[in-house]
Amino acid sequence: MATRGVGLLTRLPLCSQRRSRGQRLPFRLLTCQGTVAADLRGGERPSGSVETGSEDKTPKKRFSELQQERREQAQRSVLIHCPDKISEKKFLKYLSQHGPINNHFFYESFGLYAVVEFCQKDSINSLQNGTVTPSLRTEAAIPFRSRFFNLKLRSPSNQTSEQSSVQPNNQSPPSSKKLLESLCYAESVDEQLNTLLRAWQLTEESTRLRYLTCSLVEDMAAAYFPGCAVRPFGSSVNTFGKLGCDLDMFMDLDHIGKLDSHKNAGKFLVEYQVKNVPSERIATQKILSVIGECLDHFGPGCVGVQKILNARCPLVRFSHQASGFQCDLTTNNRIALKSSELLYIYGALDSRVRALVFSVRCWARAHSVTSSIPGTWITNFALTLMVIFFLQRRSPPVLPTLDFLKTLAGAEDKCIIEGNNCTFVRDLNKIKPSENTETLELLLKEFFEYFGNFAFNKNSISIRQGREQNKPDSSPLHIQNPFETSLNISRNVSQGQLQKFVDLARESAWILEQEGVDHPSPSHNQPWGLAALLVSSLASGKSSSGKKRRRPASERVKSLLESIRGPSADANADGKRTLSTQTC
Ligand code: GTP
Ligand code: MG
Repeated sequence: MATRGVGLLTRLPLCSQRRSRGQRLPFRLLTCQGTVAADLRGGERPSGSVETGSEDKTPKKRFSELQQERREQAQRSVLIHCPDKISEKKFLKYLSQHGPINNHFFYESFGLYAVVEFCQKDSINSLQNGTVTPSLRTEAAIPFRSRFFNLKLRSPSNQTSEQSSVQPNNQSPPSSKKLLESLCYAESVDEQLNTLLRAWQLTEESTRLRYLTCSLVEDMAAAYFPGCAVRPFGSSVNTFGKLGCDLDMFMDLDHIGKLDSHKNAGKFLVEYQVKNVPSERIATQKILSVIGECLDHFGPGCVGVQKILNARCPLVRFSHQASGFQCDLTTNNRIALKSSELLYIYGALDSRVRALVFSVRCWARAHSVTSSIPGTWITNFALTLMVIFFLQRRSPPVLPTLDFLKTLAGAEDKCIIEGNNCTFVRDLNKIKPSENTETLELLLKEFFEYFGNFAFNKNSISIRQGREQNKPDSSPLHIQNPFETSLNISRNVSQGQLQKFVDLARESAWILEQEGVDHPSPSHNQPWGLAALLVSSLASGKSSSGKKRRRPASERVKSLLESIRGPSADANADGKRTLSTQTC
């Protein structure tokens, strides 16, 4: 993400409890107002209260309710590019002439921007009516009226002296070094996982900006397809997104059909005259092609537009410069939206799920098991399904199987997409909390142990059934698509990449095991627990599975400490281990 500045992680108050092993202790409320977890709960709890996930009794919102609320909020919001120095008070006073403001924040991304949410949609019309199209000297402006504005000072020199700077919201994850330091300050591995989650999860502001970006794209698409909806999906909404993750958007044209259906009453049926094309895929390609052109030519802030129409799932990729998001726009992709809803439910059922997924994703990124470029590596989506599957396999299970969620579904939950049964219960409050009380520390170690010894050569992973299935083909890694069950979501993964994952999983299980036996006590300046796992293992001895014996954990941790303390934390001091600069 192209935002400037890196936020400092706040230091956690030290926990009075020592590290717990195996059994779960209540941990602190991790989230503040507006975070994903606050969204899940449908409100904020008093500060200082304890959240243990499975014991949380607060009613949780449905995915569709949340999407609707956020969408509606975005439709009342505008994006404004501001002068670098601006008085917040004057800015708000000026905009308030168009109507009361419900919420606003500033952030930086190649300049200072403000997101302003009005109380009423009408205020935006009023603002647009008072807005002019710039007249340029050397270039010509395309007079496109959007909800993305430039605010300029009429006489900058007079006003600069009295202006106080605004406090921009930070949109970036913490640096690797800061994150590792914070992890070292934690009192237990459980606290480390929660610290990582808190540092990385999408903030309220990032979430608002994601929905607003979709809403701005929707305005453009609506020029061709009035009534269409552009919805975020993937990690932006499934509660597993990290700050800076891409923005997956889905242009929902079925929505139009739904709006139209009530109109056809009476003796006649009136249909639109439309153009026909040979297949659904060609229709998708044509629609995306036009929207891609539109974003390229008229979309304020949309740059680097690529039309990737021959992919299995055709898409338009572009950067939205003002928000800093890398965006992927698809259409006709309802199953992916349903997958996001399913992951949202799993993330909401137990607070350990997100903490574990974030840590595993971070670990995978730090060791280049995953990558931001497409290739033969494991994807974050696949890793998330692996964590869910592992949690279904615990005894008692932390998470229910998808088949079980289907048995809880009511008539209103029924959902068939392109012949695939995508039915599961959508009301989170109907799902009983898990009786499993294992600590995050134990779960993390067991996760590595489990997949370090998984029979990938013959078994497939299925979160639908929650048990291993016989692999139907010879792909190295087989993870059943939860809804299109004949498909493998990890068919891109090569044997080499899988082996790398397995070796690292074994090594990580071994490190955690060693720490359990002869670990140095939690320390503020030594990487231990999760922090030790995130440090790249470059050219050190082979893994625990391996042929070559490693140096004892204490010695390795000592050399890591050296590299952290040294003048350059990223320098590879002894040529053996170095702090990863891409921790996640
Ligand atoms: P990030 O790496 O944080 O972007 O995670 P993500 O979950 O958003 O992954 P990605 O952007 O690659 O994909 C977006 C969504 O598309 C996922 O959350 C899934 O719902 C869906 N998806 C991704 N890959 C596959 C796949 O191979 N098969 C299927 N059926 N769906 C996929
Ligand atoms: Mg994504």
